[in-house]
Amino acid sequence: MTAAIYFSPTYTSKRGAEAIASVLAPDGKAVSMDVTRYDAAFEEKEFGPEDLVVFGAPVYGGRLYRGAKERFRRFRGHGTPCVITVTYGNRHYDDALLELFDLVLDLGFKPVGAAALVGQHTYGHIQVGRPDVSDLKEDEAFALQVKEALEAGRFLETVPGNRPYIKGEEGGKGGSFHPLTDQNCNLCGICVKECPEGAIAPDCRTIDPDRCISCFRCIRICPKAAKNMNVPAYLDFAQDFSRKLSNPRKNEYFL
Ligand SMILES: Cc1cc2nc3c(=O)[nH]c(=O)nc-3n(C[C@H](O)[C@H](O)[C@H](O)COP(=O)(O)O)c2cc1C
Ligand code: SF4
Ligand code: SF4
Repeated sequence: MTAAIYFSPTYTSKRGAEAIASVLAPDGKAVSMDVTRYDAAFEEKEFGPEDLVVFGAPVYGGRLYRGAKERFRRFRGHGTPCVITVTYGNRHYDDALLELFDLVLDLGFKPVGAAALVGQHTYGHIQVGRPDVSDLKEDEAFALQVKEALEAGRFLETVPGNRPYIKGEEGGKGGSFHPLTDQNCNLCGICVKECPEGAIAPDCRTIDPDRCISCFRCIRICPKAAKNMNVPAYLDFAQDFSRKLSNPRKNEYFL
């Protein structure tokens, strides 16, 4: 089996992981295992040496979001080749790729290739629309190189990053912006179901600040555009942040 396993609140990590996995799957059809939702129902799953897994997750605070780590721990490899990808919002991926590298080794996988991919930042207007068509083409070209490495029995020795990881003991945490809900909400409940941390109460409005990780999935998916962050403190931050990160960065691939 070739599988893409991803945690991806705003869908950028999903796109990179799936693009790579679909090239690697013998029939072009990789299995998608989306572990983003709070209730994502994956029991512990084991993979063998004949399988291939592509992992995808976002960079949060220069690290792998710790909830993604917890979810990935449900999977075990037995000498299973894998590709690791982290997607970041044009600032930097810091130690997240190395953290994912270390994690998959610990879980019994053998990394063949790795990628630090640029995606639209959760906040502000930074690299809007990425990954775009040309990013996905680069991902596909990388996947073909992974195929060659696999055939030649070459595995990845390391990826960039620091040990110990520089940004905090606990790993990637969420942010401190908690979305608001305006009068357009029709109580459809989509945001309640889709929130990765089960932070939205059944009234579709009350958000538990201790659970919310500021991933903004609820804002992205609300069909009524009712979930929002329209408060000056956020809007001012977003404008300044978008200006600072306006120079596009390139995807980086490692074999
Ligand atoms: C709480 C939080 C922290 C983030 N930290 C970083 C960071 O350190 N560096 C960066 O370049 N992008 C950072 N981002 C942006 C995300 O990595 C980026 O938007 C990514 O594409 C989101 O992935 P997803 O669409 O799969 O959810 C952060 C986003 C959030 C919500
Ligand atoms: S997704 Fe939007 S409209 Fe639906 S319950 Fe949530 S806030 Fe309301
Ligand atoms: S409530 Fe918070 S954690 Fe849940 S989807 Fe919205 S931003 Fe993400």
